[in-house]
Amino acid sequence: MRIIIEANYDEMSKKVSKLIAKHIFYKPRTVLGLATGETPLGMYKELVSLYDSDLIDFHDITTFNLDEYLGLDKDNPQSYNYYMHNNLFNHINIPKDNINIPLGLATDIAKEAIDYELKIRRIGGIDLQILGIGRNGHIGFNEPDIKFEALTHVVKLDNQTIEDNSRFFDSMDEVPNQAISMGIKTIMRAKKIILMASGIEKADTIRDSIYGNITPTLPASVLQLHPNVTYILDKAAASKLDLHKTNIDLL
Ligand code: F6R
Repeated sequence: MRIIIEANYDEMSKKVSKLIAKHIFYKPRTVLGLATGETPLGMYKELVSLYDSDLIDFHDITTFNLDEYLGLDKDNPQSYNYYMHNNLFNHINIPKDNINIPLGLATDIAKEAIDYELKIRRIGGIDLQILGIGRNGHIGFNEPDIKFEALTHVVKLDNQTIEDNSRFFDSMDEVPNQAISMGIKTIMRAKKIILMASGIEKADTIRDSIYGNITPTLPASVLQLHPNVTYILDKAAASKLDLHKTNIDLL
């Protein structure tokens, strides 16, 4: 595990975007796993700006998003599909057919989950997976007590997640309580993982997922078992780490 600590949110966003650009530069056919939420917004902005400056070409990449709310149409402004187009895909040269996001309104949702998993498998897996982290330690929408063996599946959102996500909706009643999400096993099969976190409200979760027991109660703790994971944090999110007490690689 590596930990990179940046001074603030903007520096964290720049660092992650540069690492993604570097990966795509050396492997133009990169298969990228992407996250939504507030944390990656700055990073997507940086990627668009690298593209505008002709520093990165997205033409050959393929993307798979981690998750989508159940019951939201892809054109719904609260859907992750809308978020991804609005913040990244509409501004870069990725071919539409290379974009994969689970369908929140699929008629057969169980089949949608299996097909999504198979599509990832058929393309040879994810090269670089970007993750955020929930305050309850979720990655994707794999909530506490999830099975580590889970593949892409339908999940019930935790009360804390519903509460946290309500900031993006007009009222609590509108926040979906289910989603379709890559499973822990899907995520753990990625060749490289970058987890980004910013802000003091994530500091306890970051500390526990790095130093604590590996347990489904804190889903991100499973990343301790991944051979190539990098945490990219701002100072606030890293503020509860005692870096002298570990044998973690520091970059
Ligand atoms: C979203 C996702 C979630 C978020 C997490 C943190 O695709 O996978 O795990 O990364 O809920 O969200 P923010 O960044 O809004 O704090």
